[in-house]
Amino acid sequence: MDLDSSPPVAQDKAFTVLGLESSCDETAAAIVRLGPDGCVQVLAEKVRGQNEAHAPYGGVVPEIAARAHAEVMDVLVRQVLDKAGISLDSLDGIAATSGPGLIGGVMAALMTAKGLALGAGKPLIAVNHLEGHALSPRLSEPLAFPYLLLLVSGGHTQLLIAEDVGRYHRLGSTMDDAAGEAFDKTAKVMGLGFPGGPALEKIARSGNPDRFELPTPLGNRPGHDFSFAGLKTAARQIWDGLSVPTSVDRADLAASMQRQIARSLANRSSNAMKYFMETYTDISDYVFVVAGGVAANQTVRQALQETATSRGFRLMAPPMKWCTDNAAMIALAGAEHLRRGEVDDLSAPARARWPLDAASAKLDPAIGSGRKGPKA
Ligand code: KG4
Ligand code: ZN
Repeated sequence: MDLDSSPPVAQDKAFTVLGLESSCDETAAAIVRLGPDGCVQVLAEKVRGQNEAHAPYGGVVPEIAARAHAEVMDVLVRQVLDKAGISLDSLDGIAATSGPGLIGGVMAALMTAKGLALGAGKPLIAVNHLEGHALSPRLSEPLAFPYLLLLVSGGHTQLLIAEDVGRYHRLGSTMDDAAGEAFDKTAKVMGLGFPGGPALEKIARSGNPDRFELPTPLGNRPGHDFSFAGLKTAARQIWDGLSVPTSVDRADLAASMQRQIARSLANRSSNAMKYFMETYTDISDYVFVVAGGVAANQTVRQALQETATSRGFRLMAPPMKWCTDNAAMIALAGAEHLRRGEVDDLSAPARARWPLDAASAKLDPAIGSGRKGPKA
C-alpha cells in the first residue's frame, strides 16, 4: 500500500468488509459496513480467547497460540457470515491483520484471508494491527482527525497522533516492557496467575499504595517514551526481600505498582497533550483516546481522566470489547483503505514487526532497528 499520496475517497458507496485478527492470543472475525457518510455499522463479530491454554505457563506461548488460532479461525468466519446473514459473494473485501505480532498467529488470519479472497475473487487488504487500534474509537462514534491516542496493552505502549487514515505520527513508545507486560510479570512473581493485570487490580483494591517506595519511571522528565523494566525489577526485589509474604504485603505491593504505572502513563500522556495542543492550535475538540487492555484498569483510567481534564482534553475510551484485540477494528481499517482504492495482492507478507509510523521508528534510538527492521 502506498500511503504517501492521498488517493480519492469513494463517497457514494458503502463498503462491507470481513476482518480477521489473530496477532496475539485472541482469535476474532467481524463484518463491518462503512457507509458513504463515514458512519460505521458492526454487522457481526466474534472473539475467542485462549487464556485457559496459556494459564499453566503464566504467559502467551506462541506455538500454542498459533495452533489455537488455526483451529478456530474458519469456524468464526462461518459464524459471523451467518450472523450478519450475508454470503462471501456480497462482501466488498477481506481484511486481515498482517502484523505486527506473533508470526505464527499472524499467519492464521492472513492465510485464511488470502484463501477467501482468492476463492471468492475479492480484494485483500493487509492491515497493520496498530492502525486497527488507532481507528477503533471510530467504531463507536464519529471522531474527526487529528486526535491523540495512547495504546496501552500487553504488547504495546505508545503515544500516537492519528492525522488521517493511513497517516500516523508516533510521539513515543516503550523502551523495554509494555505496561500490560509489567502488570503481568509482577503478578506472576506474586503468584497471581494469568492474565495478571486484572488479578493485580483486584487485590490492589485493599492495598496501601504508600507503603512500598517504587521508582517513578523516567521521573518527571520531558518526552513521550515509556520504560517499565526498572519499576518491574524494583517490585520483584521488594517481593523477594519479604521472608514470608502475607496477603497484606501482596495487596500493598500491588497497589504501589499499579499507582506507579498509572502515574507514568499519565505523566507521559500529559507531555504529549501539551505537544499536540502546541501543534494543532485551531481545534475546538481536543480528544485523547485510550485503547488497549490496560485501559480497563480503573486507577489508570482515573489518572488519565485527571490529566486530560487538566490539559483541556476530552478522554475517550472505546467500549472494552473494542479496546482489547478484536476484528471489528481490522475490518474498519480494511474498509477505509478499500474506500481509497488501496488493496494488497496475495504476496502480502506476515510481519512480526511493522511500525505504524516507519519514519519516526527509524529515527528513534529508543526503539532500535532489530534484526528484521524497526520494532512496532
Ligand atoms: O489489548 P489486550 O487485550 O491484548 C494485547 O496485549 O494486545 O491487552 C492485554 C493486556 C494484558 O497485559 C493484561 O494483563 C492487561 O492488558 N490488562 C490489565 C487489566 N485488564 C487487562 N492490566 C491492568 N488492569 C486491568 N484491569
Ligand atoms: Zn492489540
